[in-house]
Amino acid sequence: MASTSNPGSPGSLRRDITLIDAVGIGLGAIIGAGIFVVTGVAAGVAGPAFIIGLGIAGIAATCNALSSAELAATYPQSGGTYEYGYRLLNPWFGFAAGWMFLASKLAAGGTVALGFGAYFSQLVPSIPAQYAAVGAAILLTTANLFGIKKAGRFNTFIVAITLLTLICFVLAGISSFDLSNLTPFAPTGYFGIAESAALLFFAYTGYARIATLGEEVHDPKRTIPRAVIITLVVSVVLYMSVALVAVGSVGSTALAQNSSPLQEAAKGFPLPGVFWIVGIGAATAMFGVLLSQIVGISRMMFAMARRRDLPAFLEHVTEKHAVPSYGIILTGMVIIFLAIFGTLQFVVSAAAFTILIYYGIANICALKLAKENKLYPKWVAILGLTFCIALAISLPPVTIVAGLIVLVVGFIARGIFRRISVSPLPEN
Ligand code: ALA
Repeated sequence: MASTSNPGSPGSLRRDITLIDAVGIGLGAIIGAGIFVVTGVAAGVAGPAFIIGLGIAGIAATCNALSSAELAATYPQSGGTYEYGYRLLNPWFGFAAGWMFLASKLAAGGTVALGFGAYFSQLVPSIPAQYAAVGAAILLTTANLFGIKKAGRFNTFIVAITLLTLICFVLAGISSFDLSNLTPFAPTGYFGIAESAALLFFAYTGYARIATLGEEVHDPKRTIPRAVIITLVVSVVLYMSVALVAVGSVGSTALAQNSSPLQEAAKGFPLPGVFWIVGIGAATAMFGVLLSQIVGISRMMFAMARRRDLPAFLEHVTEKHAVPSYGIILTGMVIIFLAIFGTLQFVVSAAAFTILIYYGIANICALKLAKENKLYPKWVAILGLTFCIALAISLPPVTIVAGLIVLVVGFIARGIFRRISVSPLPEN
């Protein structure tokens, strides 16, 4: 794993993340509420055909991930598409990307907290789901204030548990598979499949974590694209197997009616104990994803405050633990609010729309990359952009309108922040 010191070159990061480490980091950031929770929401939208949506979302995610990887290789600073938008397009695009990232990841944080609560309360019925969700958000916010990130062995441990539980789910559930549970296959037609793909795109997000390891990966130009592709292929295969077994064993209606759908499916498996195993895997996976989401959101707030796109106080870093404390606390508060007042359906679709806008801008940036920095043919970014637009407009109109209102509010807020900012504005 990476270390932040190198006797040979003080202050620089050591390039000791190997291909396997990078895949582990990617899987740790990706596998969470998407497979454990959103599959139920998507099954309600498209019926058993949500499996096709899962495949489409995987292809879209791969194109977007490759665009992000070539951008990160050129601009390895934190801030992701917010930075690329500023540098390659204009400040408004950059701001839009950062603002949409915050909206998406905060909604995703709410989704993951609610998902964690749902599985945890199945394991410990005396604790209501919402209490568990809020408790996890408070605990992880506090952990973040102490500078704890999901790194190294802890990440590997979580990934190993998650993978083992999902493999166990698939193997234990195969014998419960009944083809009749797949009919009617696509009750809501193409539109239902497209909407489920948009929702399930969420399940693959997290790949940007690999793209941002540019300064610590051994031979990054070779390792990062390989790690991105391996991680997403593993995720697609795993997700498709899990989803097929889940829907084949209990049908899409049962999945849709439950906020811990994989446990619902496991209840009918002949092998005892899978219900518990899946519950533990889900809880650890979502705990890990929530931890790294709080890290990511607070760093984006930090990057945006540095340019005065957000109030300057969010740039404050504590002396003791070197963390952006106000950003972390604000992040925790919003996630707790969503865990108390949000519904799963709402937070999932809000997270999906806003992250699709974010990656849409990332693909436009990739198209603007100078020829010498391009790692992939242009069609990858064009396909990624097309997927982002097509999936975003497949979401319910109310989500689209709400997402656009959030964007407009962001532009107005940016104007206000910059006008009232007392500290000097940094150059571009
Ligand atoms: N891909 C992450 C998850 O499924 C965000 O929870």
